[in-house]
Amino acid sequence: MADSTNTQRDAWGSRIGFVLAAAGSAVGLGNIWRFPYVAGESGGGMFVLIYLICVVFISVPYLFAELSLGRHKHRNPVGAIMAIKGRSAWMLIGFLCITAGLVILSYYGVIAGWAIGYVAKDVIAPGVPFGEFIATPALVIPLLALFLGLTLYVVTGGIQQGIERWAKLLMPLLLVLMLIIIIRSLTLEGASEGIAFYLMPDLSQISGAVVLTALGQAFFSLSLGMGAMITYGSYLNKQENIATSGGYVAVFDTSIAILAGFMIFPAVFALGMEPDAGPALVFEILPAVFAEMPMGAFIGVLFFLLLSIGALTSSISLLEVVVSYFIDEQKWSRMNSVLTIGAIAFVLAIPSALSQGAVGWLSDLSWLFGEGGLLGQNDFLGILDYFFGSLFLAIGAFFISIFVGWVWGAQEAVKEIQQGSNFTGWLVTVWVFMLRWVCPLFIFISLIYMIYEAL
Ligand code: TRP
Repeated sequence: MADSTNTQRDAWGSRIGFVLAAAGSAVGLGNIWRFPYVAGESGGGMFVLIYLICVVFISVPYLFAELSLGRHKHRNPVGAIMAIKGRSAWMLIGFLCITAGLVILSYYGVIAGWAIGYVAKDVIAPGVPFGEFIATPALVIPLLALFLGLTLYVVTGGIQQGIERWAKLLMPLLLVLMLIIIIRSLTLEGASEGIAFYLMPDLSQISGAVVLTALGQAFFSLSLGMGAMITYGSYLNKQENIATSGGYVAVFDTSIAILAGFMIFPAVFALGMEPDAGPALVFEILPAVFAEMPMGAFIGVLFFLLLSIGALTSSISLLEVVVSYFIDEQKWSRMNSVLTIGAIAFVLAIPSALSQGAVGWLSDLSWLFGEGGLLGQNDFLGILDYFFGSLFLAIGAFFISIFVGWVWGAQEAVKEIQQGSNFTGWLVTVWVFMLRWVCPLFIFISLIYMIYEAL
């Protein structure tokens, strides 16, 4: 049996466990923090429409590629590629995934730390404005440590007892919190203006930049491009239906992103604020909105709890990518891998944590990247996000789609997907075409755009 060397390896205990864990990876800061502000900046409804098109035609086909590659030999990104191509330059793509996981985990933890801090903001830093909050090391470093500590704790439990168990608890909780906030937001007087902004596509808003932003968001939001779904796929057994389960994950993730807009825009418009505040939308505008509405303090606590939960189930997957490599390929114990990588992520996160005003030269790298920075970012965290959260994800996704579509071969991937599903007929034809041509082409264009814009 091909998997005989791997019989000890962890696996998901149930289909719902996998779907919730993978949805947990996907649903995170990207949905609740980034999606609303990007939509707000990029003109609302039109952006949402383009985003949906990108998810259906590019992200979902690509998601199946990552899941099938991971499940094929039940291996981490490096191992999965090696199992097919042996020791070759393709391994570099696997290592790019592992590195990106580690680096994204580091700065993701910083932002997630802010979210945790805002749950208890009235206690730990009452009245402190957002800009000052994130520039205070005595606040952000302990919060970062707390958040990473929670992430490590869950991942030490392994797949079934750790990641799956917590996903089954936290994802339903996240949904409930979200519904409470949406009801509050939609019942405010003047909410309909926000809905109109959010849902009415305005044709004049369409541009190449909006399309490529939507595509980038559709990749980040589904945790694609750095092997998180290769890794989660590697814990699937062969009876599992990749197409259906992957579809659920995409529907779940997209619904949460759309719903996040329904929490935020009606409230923002009802209280006369602007939707285009950028990254500060959730941390600055929303608290101001909450402060003015009935039951606002309570809703504020629930909102940041929700944001923290989403971030936690995502950071778990970032850590698991790296951990699975050290367990599979270096034969480390899970505990050792988690502690070592967690410690490295913490150290790596410190410059990001200090780059939001606490330390001048980390907060302004214009001596290195020029006045304009990279896509307008000039702080250490923003620069890392540009390289690891955008550029390297696109490079990873480009080569992984080429690898699965052409090197391993789309037909082999189809065979893998067919184990456990009746993936046949025109669906296969369409999928193969998307994987081999449409995904690499669009990803390549967005890659060029990102580089061009940053120069
Ligand atoms: N998808 C998560 C979010 O929306 C973030 C995330 C977790 C991620 N794992 C990832 C992004 C892997 C890219 C790659 O917040």
